[in-house]
Amino acid sequence: MTSAPDAASPAETSRVAVLQRIPEVGIRRLRDAGLHVDASEREAPLDASERAAVLADATAAVTLLTDRVDDAFLDEAPHLRIVANVAVGFDNVDVAACAARGVVVTNTPGVLTDATADLTLALLLAVTRRVGEGERLIRSGAPWSWGMFMMLGRGLRDRRLGIVGMGAIGTAVAERARAFGMRVAYHNRSAVDAEVADRLGAERLDLDELFATSDVVSLHCPHTPETHHLVDARRLASMRDDAYLVNTARGPVVDEAALVAALDGGQIAGAALDVYENEPEVHPGLVDRDDVVLLPHLGSATIETRDAMSDLAARNVVAVLAGERPITPVAPPAT
Ligand code: GLV
Repeated sequence: MTSAPDAASPAETSRVAVLQRIPEVGIRRLRDAGLHVDASEREAPLDASERAAVLADATAAVTLLTDRVDDAFLDEAPHLRIVANVAVGFDNVDVAACAARGVVVTNTPGVLTDATADLTLALLLAVTRRVGEGERLIRSGAPWSWGMFMMLGRGLRDRRLGIVGMGAIGTAVAERARAFGMRVAYHNRSAVDAEVADRLGAERLDLDELFATSDVVSLHCPHTPETHHLVDARRLASMRDDAYLVNTARGPVVDEAALVAALDGGQIAGAALDVYENEPEVHPGLVDRDDVVLLPHLGSATIETRDAMSDLAARNVVAVLAGERPITPVAPPAT
């Protein structure tokens, strides 16, 4: 069968809007598939009129976690078939609204597991060994000399690491923590595979017991209505006063005001945060203290990982626009 002379192929009629700058490997993959790509070069969300212009004809949108994909976004994109979010988290995307319009949502799991787990350990070590505080001392130029009681931290061997959310990243954090001699406990909706639990010596606990008994609590759950402010005043008060909180998941999982109050009250020993409740704002009560370590959302920030995220998002777009199944779809919430 021959097609009508003016019928365009799916690739020719497909326009991919890449809303912020992403590594070139993804753009190349989209173009190699014959897709028309409108790619922003900016490392920030488009302003309203630019976004409306680029979405008007888009059949695919490649978004970052600072792009909000809601009904207003979808109204601007009447031809959209896929939102490929370049992140494992997707709390910036209204997945139910996308599903209602038949728009597939994909994320980038797997490729950022090691980078995020590595950074979690960096934060864990930084907060327990006072790395930031020590560095600030040296850079301040203040006089110092080695001292037996100077800046004492806490060791990790035989301490309990309580992991909230034992998915790929939580499991990779547990593996690394075992190498430091930590004992692993976790909370997850379902039990992890028995072989994995055995290998890691990981004990499944309910949330209250995990918070009350862990020396370090590390968050690896998604941000959903159920996990919003999961770490609140009550949970912080239940922690040991020599325990630490690490968050490389999503800021709003922690009630930041309650965290500041818990630190002020000596209810916990410290916190290490890569993500913030009102990102990029940081609660002013966290900024000037030495018992917290603060990073600017660097979990997946390695060159290799960002390339892999860009490529996976592009592969999802190519698959969906070719009428194939997405590689890493996000399931719409159960109704
Ligand atoms: C980063 O925070 C991500 O969700 O990929």
